[in-house]
Amino acid sequence: AADCDEANGETGRLPHQRWTEFQPRVLYDIDVRQAEHQFHAQGPKNLIWGYNGTLPGSTIVARYGEPVCVRFRNNLPGDAVGYGSPEISTHLHNLHCASESDGFTGDYYSATKAGPSLTAPGRWKDHLYPNTYAGGDAREALGTLWFHDHRMDFTAGNVYRGLAGFYLLFDHIDSGNETDPSPTALRLPSGVGDFDIPLMVQDKQFDASGYVKLDQFNNDGILGNKICVNGKIQPFFDVRRRKYRFRILNASPSRQYEFYLMYKGRAQNFTYIANDGNLLPAPLTMQKIRVAPAERADIIIDFKAFGNIGADDEVILVNRLEQVDGRKPTGKLLTPGDEILKFKIKAGAVDDPSQVPAKLRDLPPIDTKKAVRRRNFEFDRSGGSWTVNGNLFDVTKPLFTVKKGTAEIWTLESKGSWLHPVHIHMEEGRILSRDGKSPPAHERGRKDVYPIIDGEEVEVFIQFRDFIGKYMMHCHNISHEDHAMMVRFDVVD
Ligand code: C2O
Ligand code: CU
Repeated sequence: AADCDEANGETGRLPHQRWTEFQPRVLYDIDVRQAEHQFHAQGPKNLIWGYNGTLPGSTIVARYGEPVCVRFRNNLPGDAVGYGSPEISTHLHNLHCASESDGFTGDYYSATKAGPSLTAPGRWKDHLYPNTYAGGDAREALGTLWFHDHRMDFTAGNVYRGLAGFYLLFDHIDSGNETDPSPTALRLPSGVGDFDIPLMVQDKQFDASGYVKLDQFNNDGILGNKICVNGKIQPFFDVRRRKYRFRILNASPSRQYEFYLMYKGRAQNFTYIANDGNLLPAPLTMQKIRVAPAERADIIIDFKAFGNIGADDEVILVNRLEQVDGRKPTGKLLTPGDEILKFKIKAGAVDDPSQVPAKLRDLPPIDTKKAVRRRNFEFDRSGGSWTVNGNLFDVTKPLFTVKKGTAEIWTLESKGSWLHPVHIHMEEGRILSRDGKSPPAHERGRKDVYPIIDGEEVEVFIQFRDFIGKYMMHCHNISHEDHAMMVRFDVVD
């Protein structure tokens, strides 16, 4: 706290963050820098950009009621060559926070000088994450979030170079303690890095010598020839015979996945508990899950379910969705598909105090009568760029404004047949309909990414609550985003 108060008087100060109101308790100082990284034990050392020099970046574990301040120090080489830009603006994807801390795409800064529209800081910037429930309602709690770079026009290159990390939020219900004696605690598999495992899935294009490359002239999308999990190509993970929580994040630039859990050549059940990091009202039993760029899927796997057949039994996470064009998957399912992550089950019984209760987190009701207006957004292509209602992104002024304290219904429409995973900043929404029909069960919770493909229309109910200022909506195929499929909207009093 002392450090944060001190920051108040330094160049990193942001005017509207109301430090005295939020009283950040922890200051995380993150060094954004270039570092060596091996994607495979037999591969060469690649130069990546990482939060604290790692891929994924350092994981931040946070709790409701404990506001934190994160200082992102830009120590990227100013003379970097290749794709991306050594200027940064960091967005914490889906955090409910003030505009100044949201990592607005135009608010980028380099190691030595401020960006064009940034009000104050030079080489670092403080972001204040209040970790309060939107509307003060514990049913609005967030869980699996991630932070990534959002530098205008260069987001694809910067994220592809490695600027992505996890931010996990806990509260008294999803308390992160599987032995929590409190009657309200869910006691899901816990211990970040032990039985609660974030999995960042990213495909990358490797050349014949094992170096990552990027075709900068293709704005349809970036597709890799290898799929990495937590920065490794086809890793192994040793597990015990008990339940684990996996937080799958699709941090790929453009690829959509359909994941299966394979054991002895057959698809297995898993338990789906959270979409876009938000717990569903009840767990769902599933055998496959589609995850578009920026979407998250939290699943529980009970490795005890796989018999007790002896040492080194393997369960494999597989992607079966074929995609050969950056703009969308073919829809065809590959057999057997790409092996992404291999779980090696250790023999022997082990204690498992965790549980998956029949009820998780209730959903707040949707009051469509409260919607004061409808808006329509067409995601389309024109003249080599990607557009929203025919517009290219304009950083200088909002395309529209919404009133704080009101609700709206937005229709997101994919023109053409491309896939656009649309992301709306700051407030989550609820899907009212997908092509006029009620959405599937796993999409009925609170979401922040809405994939639309093949002329689909998704109707989203969204409530604007406390914060005002500039925010963004954009396609999270980050090649589309960089080629102007983004909108600035301002929330006004
Ligand atoms: Cu994941 Cu505008 O971001
Ligand atoms: Cu798109």
